[in-house]
Amino acid sequence: MVHEHEVVIVGAGIAGLYAALEASRSVNTAVISKVFPTRSHSISAQGGTAAPLGNMEEDSWEWHLFDTVKGADYLGDQDAQEILVRESVEVAYELEHMGCPFSRTEEGKIAQREFGGHYSNLGKGPIRRACYAADRTGHAMLHTLYEQCVKNDVRFYTEFFVLNLLVENNICTGVVAWDMQNGGLHVFHAKAVMFATGGYARAWKVNTNALSNTGDGMSIVLQAGLPLEDMEFVQFHPTGLFPSGVLVTEGARGEGGYLVNNEGKRFMEKYAPAKMELAPRDVISRSIQTEINEGRGIGGKGYVHLDLRHLGRAAIMEKLPQIHELILKFSGIDAVTDFVPILPTSHYAMGGIPTDVNGRVVMDAKNTPVTGFYAAGECACVSVHGANRLGCNSTMDCAVYGRRTGRAMARFIGEGAEKADLPKDALERGRAKLERLLTAKGKENPAAIRDELQETMMINCGVFREEKLLKKQLEIIKSLQGRFKEIEVGYKGPRFNTELLDAIELGNMLDFVETIVVGGLARTESRGAHSRTDFPKRDDANWMKHTLAWKTDSGIRLDYKPVVVTRFQPEERKF
Ligand code: FUM
Repeated sequence: MVHEHEVVIVGAGIAGLYAALEASRSVNTAVISKVFPTRSHSISAQGGTAAPLGNMEEDSWEWHLFDTVKGADYLGDQDAQEILVRESVEVAYELEHMGCPFSRTEEGKIAQREFGGHYSNLGKGPIRRACYAADRTGHAMLHTLYEQCVKNDVRFYTEFFVLNLLVENNICTGVVAWDMQNGGLHVFHAKAVMFATGGYARAWKVNTNALSNTGDGMSIVLQAGLPLEDMEFVQFHPTGLFPSGVLVTEGARGEGGYLVNNEGKRFMEKYAPAKMELAPRDVISRSIQTEINEGRGIGGKGYVHLDLRHLGRAAIMEKLPQIHELILKFSGIDAVTDFVPILPTSHYAMGGIPTDVNGRVVMDAKNTPVTGFYAAGECACVSVHGANRLGCNSTMDCAVYGRRTGRAMARFIGEGAEKADLPKDALERGRAKLERLLTAKGKENPAAIRDELQETMMINCGVFREEKLLKKQLEIIKSLQGRFKEIEVGYKGPRFNTELLDAIELGNMLDFVETIVVGGLARTESRGAHSRTDFPKRDDANWMKHTLAWKTDSGIRLDYKPVVVTRFQPEERKF
């Protein structure tokens, strides 16, 4: 079956829905999602979304820009970062006017709280910049956007899994997707295709992500012969609930929570004496991991404590109710009266599908655009987050760049874009991919391969990295890729075949992880979240550049492109 639309968006998180809302104002727009839209992972964003509204104290976009540039360890593109911080103000108010239920100040303005890495006056004191809806900010934003999309008659294809991106001669014509509910393959033919397919942290055992975050969009792009950018930069959030890694929002530290080790000491004094628990995430995750590695975890184990007790029951219940409930349900701990055990947890992809500031996907170091192909949100790399994202800049990145990308696609079509012909074998490509998995008769169990990948990524490609471990991980990935060819999918049915779904997702994970490890091995420096114990210093002379990675028959090929620097030259990062 072939579906005809002008715009097809893959992914229904904040970026996908904001783009759909904008595009659907003037062109026929469809959204394909492997989960029901309001189950997209944006729903889990907890603590806030950044905008220098100045509702609680003076703030400015220049201060927000400085923090974002420095937080990113100078690898972000400053033109894109400036767009993010300038447009964030308009976007926050636009969301408010759509009905987004933000928490309120006494005068009824959008309430804002402190978050790590956000400061006043070019890096001085902490600042309340994170607009929040208690600790359910992503939930509030996602539902608001979904309602608006429904109002605008956006067509949703829910529980459809995209298998192939159709790109010929540098022109994108559509995607092929599997209808997971009813079975069968569908071709989507469009003038503009956008990926807003989210992140990939399920490739690590300890992570904050939804089960669905298996990096599918990024791997489909690699499989289509296009590159990914800066994949070596993987963010570990400092406070995952021990042992699973479920997110305990940075808002908890924004509201005044402390981190303490087995001696009862606030150890951030040693690592970031000025900013303490409100230093950027890369700094705090390394500090926690160092405490654990040096035996100062609680009881010598792999976690430290988050202490919220001094905030008091009323503040916790008003500002962090979901966190309180989540900690109670997952750990049986009441954060009002007890310490919360936490550890760094894989959380966010700074890298992804390279785009320009209008969401157009680019295919090389000269930034040549792929006609009709767009991306935004966590799957994309524009690049606003560089080597380390600041907390609460992600949901705003999704909103600002989702909106810009929706507008860019509508403009592209409004200016007379033609629909290029689909490849003749479009459907066949999707069928071949499924058939390969359904007819394979090997001995390997996909779940065992996934477990080994997740466990070894924690050990060899975690908060700290070094050549020996990364090389070992590359060997493991290659061996797992080999074993993946020998799997067997036991259940062959067409409907809700979750065994087949798991196998497709595993194949995708095994593709993008290779770019992370190869890019990380090549980058012989430490910058942001890429922390090499064998190369502990940042090396601007050699590495102030973005990595591009392609999948080829002989492995991953790398190339590099310059970072855009407009206002702030790199300086030493001290917090
Ligand atoms: O800690 C948090 O609430 C997560 C926010 C983010 O990743 O931006």
